[in-house]
Amino acid sequence: METLNELREHIGDCHRCDLGDTRTRLVFGVGRTDADLMFIGEAPGRNEDLKGEPFVGAAGKLLDELLASIDLTRDDVYIANILKCRPPGNRNPLPAEIETCTPFLREQVRLVNPCVIVTLGNFATKFVLKTTAGITGLRGSVQHAGSFTVLPIFHPAAALYDISKRDTLFADFALIGQLLSACGAEGHEPVQGRLFGA
Ligand code: URA
Repeated sequence: METLNELREHIGDCHRCDLGDTRTRLVFGVGRTDADLMFIGEAPGRNEDLKGEPFVGAAGKLLDELLASIDLTRDDVYIANILKCRPPGNRNPLPAEIETCTPFLREQVRLVNPCVIVTLGNFATKFVLKTTAGITGLRGSVQHAGSFTVLPIFHPAAALYDISKRDTLFADFALIGQLLSACGAEGHEPVQGRLFGA
């Protein structure tokens, strides 16, 4: 696959796992196709399932505020999730669902080829860093996976009702600017060799 559009077409009306039976709309991902900065969340929630777009609910509003705090908008970044379909009742993704769905996320990462990947919460962090360590210990620490700089942070949904996590999120976001400036004006080297976990 050479483009995100081709990848989206390839995924089609997906029923590779049972979430295909319960979702309303598949949530592929949005944003700048050559973004330096990519966010990876967990899975669509109710609003995302209805709209077919990631982070359009309350957590998305906080994500917009966080982006604004470093002078970015959604149009500057690419946003995707570990799962492309909503788990019923917003339950956690199952290992088999993650295994079935993430080859497409890997392709998105390869095609966008960001410099910095920000993982939102435990599921994205564990997938990208191939770690069992929890987000509370890892958040705000600069990591690397393949050719990518990775910054794990709390999931914005976890900060909606927890003011201290909200403050932590804004503080961690402040790091993103520094990480992006290290990417260089020329952009970083194209992905060569192993992509994370691939
Ligand atoms: N939470 C996520 O992890 N992803 C979304 O798209 C929305 C809420």
